[in-house]
Amino acid sequence: MPVARWFLLFGALAGLTFAAGVATVMTMAARTAELNPRREVADQVDRLIVALIVVFVLLLVCAAGLALVVRYAVLKPIDQLTDQVRAVAAGDFDRDLHVDRPAELAELSSHIDSMRGRILSGWRTAQDQAEELRRSNGELEQFAYVASHDLQEPLRKVASFTQMLEQRYADRLDDRARQYIHFAVDGAKRMQALINDLLDFSRVGRVTGGRTPTESGAALDRALDNLSAAIEESGATITRDELPTVLGNQTQLTQLFQNLIENAVKFRSEEPPRVHIGVRRDGGMWEFRCSDNGIGVEPKYADRIFLIFQRLHARDVYPGTGIGLALCRKIVEYHGGRLWLDGDATGPGGHGATFRWTLPAAGDT
Ligand SMILES: Nc1ncnc2c1ncn2[C@@H]1O[C@H](COP(=O)(O)OP(=O)(O)O)[C@@H](O)[C@H]1O
Ligand SMILES: [Mg+2]
Repeated sequence: MPVARWFLLFGALAGLTFAAGVATVMTMAARTAELNPRREVADQVDRLIVALIVVFVLLLVCAAGLALVVRYAVLKPIDQLTDQVRAVAAGDFDRDLHVDRPAELAELSSHIDSMRGRILSGWRTAQDQAEELRRSNGELEQFAYVASHDLQEPLRKVASFTQMLEQRYADRLDDRARQYIHFAVDGAKRMQALINDLLDFSRVGRVTGGRTPTESGAALDRALDNLSAAIEESGATITRDELPTVLGNQTQLTQLFQNLIENAVKFRSEEPPRVHIGVRRDGGMWEFRCSDNGIGVEPKYADRIFLIFQRLHARDVYPGTGIGLALCRKIVEYHGGRLWLDGDATGPGGHGATFRWTLPAAGDT
């Protein structure tokens, strides 16, 4: 209930009590008069009645004065401040918050106003930074476009013409020249792989579309299909739990499985690779894991391997661009999940690496 109503309620109660008191005293005075008192007593009673009336009128004036003071010195400034705060809350952030009286409210309003000023300047800075980020993202997108169309084309030319050079003039070239050509072709191919991986990385969350209920098992099937040659060649066995429906993007989930399984197969030990995709429910998320029996990752590199271009091995031992895990982490984070190397878990066979990640469950399934 607003303060004004409480004030009215208590004012009315006090007035009623006082009026009842006055009425009682008047009745008693009238009874006393009926008893034919002595003259001095009757005079005293008359004076008492006059005094009572004067006190009553004075009290009435005081109450009216108090009501005015409360109305104009307290309630009105509070209303003013409330209107100002409401306007700010509704989005008019440049509106000043200020009342002159009373001193307490003036101080309160100046504190609220300086808070508004600070929040506003923080918000404006954040907006400027967001704008700057949007601009630089736009530039990156432009770069990705240039990389995909304009850089790949000359690169393809370099690769194919050096190969043609080798084929057509093979008889006129000595071993050293052939070796140089081989290096040139290899370099161009590696650059193509790097550009393609970088493009995949830059596309996450931008080009590959929205998130819908997606069968993670189907994404895994597609990933295995894309990896069929490597799986067959290495004799890998891949097993899985029953996989759930998640809220995600089919293309990206395929890329995620594909990169993790590709690593599990690539970084194998002497034994044939065994990879297991497991899953368990964790609140509103599903927690997946990919465990293998390969060479494993030393715990001290648990963070480093997720950085772009960071690899732990020479390219001639294990080929690769070092983008796979960075891409996986970007995909999982785009889905609102988390991806990490589980340093405590060991894969099938008592060694190897286990990666875990979370993805949002689709609906109530
Ligand atoms: N399953 C795994 N077993 C052992 N090491 C791994 C595994 N997955 C990733 N790594 C390590 O993390 C590094 C980064 O992986 P990734 O980003 O996929 O790059 P790439 O596969 O091109 O080397 C790898 O070079 C490797 O050292
Ligand atoms: Mg990889």
